[in-house]
Amino acid sequence: MTIISVDLSDRGYDILVKPGALADAARHLEPYAKNQRLFIITDENVAANHLNQLTNQLERSGYNIERFILPPGEKSKSWLFLEKLTDWLLAHGVERSDTLVAFGGGVVGDLTGFAAAILKRGCHFLQIPTSLLAQVDSSVGGKTAINSKAGKNLIGSFNQPTFVLIDPLVLNSLPDRELRAGYAEVIKYGLIDNAPFFSWCEKNGARLLARDPDALSHAIIESVTAKAKIVGEDEKELSGRRALLNLGHTFGHALEAETGYSDKLVHGEAVAAGMALAFQYSVRRGHCDADEARRVSDHLKAVNLPNSLATASVYAAGQNLVEHMMHDKKMASGTLPFLLANGVGKTFLADDVDLTDVANFLDQAQ
Ligand SMILES: NC(=O)c1ccc[n+]([C@@H]2O[C@H](COP(=O)([O-])OP(=O)(O)OC[C@H]3O[C@@H](n4cnc5c(N)ncnc54)[C@H](O)[C@@H]3O)[C@@H](O)[C@H]2O)c1
Ligand SMILES: [Zn+2]
Repeated sequence: MTIISVDLSDRGYDILVKPGALADAARHLEPYAKNQRLFIITDENVAANHLNQLTNQLERSGYNIERFILPPGEKSKSWLFLEKLTDWLLAHGVERSDTLVAFGGGVVGDLTGFAAAILKRGCHFLQIPTSLLAQVDSSVGGKTAINSKAGKNLIGSFNQPTFVLIDPLVLNSLPDRELRAGYAEVIKYGLIDNAPFFSWCEKNGARLLARDPDALSHAIIESVTAKAKIVGEDEKELSGRRALLNLGHTFGHALEAETGYSDKLVHGEAVAAGMALAFQYSVRRGHCDADEARRVSDHLKAVNLPNSLATASVYAAGQNLVEHMMHDKKMASGTLPFLLANGVGKTFLADDVDLTDVANFLDQAQ
């Protein structure tokens, strides 16, 4: 069992990583259940695989469980489902001192966290993430949001959970494609500032994707430790430190927007191609050796993740992709900060990137 702490004074919390932790959830959740009552929010896929096991165990231990099951997928991060969820919680007499439990992937976590932020001006929530992406990224750090017509994650708030319970064994039911997409975010931590961890990924990526519990646990612990540290230093992305977590995301979001945020390219796949592009663009600008960028592309290819526009099946003109980037939340005064790299584990924030040059690069990168 490993406990990682997010150091945010009165908003600080622990992240527990333990294979099999879910089977012992009654004990782990006890400090958070007022009157032994918990509101569990999940989606249909997670419910089909794990909800009965979790609730049976909690009910046997005397908990009173209320459950809300969302349709799976990004469309649940909407005003419609925020309204349905908050209406349901109020109808069930939720109180400010109650705790909501987000039991699912990033969609369930982001929606539940935002509902908790606004419900009765704020109640508690904790995360039991069930996708690899949620275990290594979205369940930690307190970014919560829903999507709007104008774009993804544009309506939301910073709201830290009170606890995160991570059981790598719950990933056994996660579809291969989702596991691989989550692995892109794992690689990201190596590329940001941990070259030895990227080397570990090169050696162990295949073992992790074969769901070896030790490889999964190691990757989750490394990732969460890195994210917790960055969030502790820059909770609200004010100093530029937290922005490092967006490596590959500016290019990636453009690809996601171009493919309509659809199943053609899921988030982690877009981030994978985006990281490869960020390294190639760093080579173009003279920051990084071509060999380093090739190492990134080679590992992505080895684990069957996209590493280029073509392998992401995106054939748009560079200017179109740049226009998608200009809708980014981080766009300010006509420029967009870009995460570039001097090499593996040497990412930095560049605020002097010329978007016309990026468009030309993308035209040549097709
Ligand atoms: N808050 C943050 O800091 C942050 C960071 C990154 C991403 N996000 C958000 O997270 C979302 C993506 O998260 P995601 O990839 O987890 O998506 P998701 O929640 O849609 O889960 C992916 C798919 O896997 C299924 N699933 C999840 N766990 C499962 C399990 N154990 N067994 C079987 N099926 C399972 C889900 O039902 C869904 O179909 C996006 O909305 C993104 O904006 C948020
Ligand atoms: Zn991401």
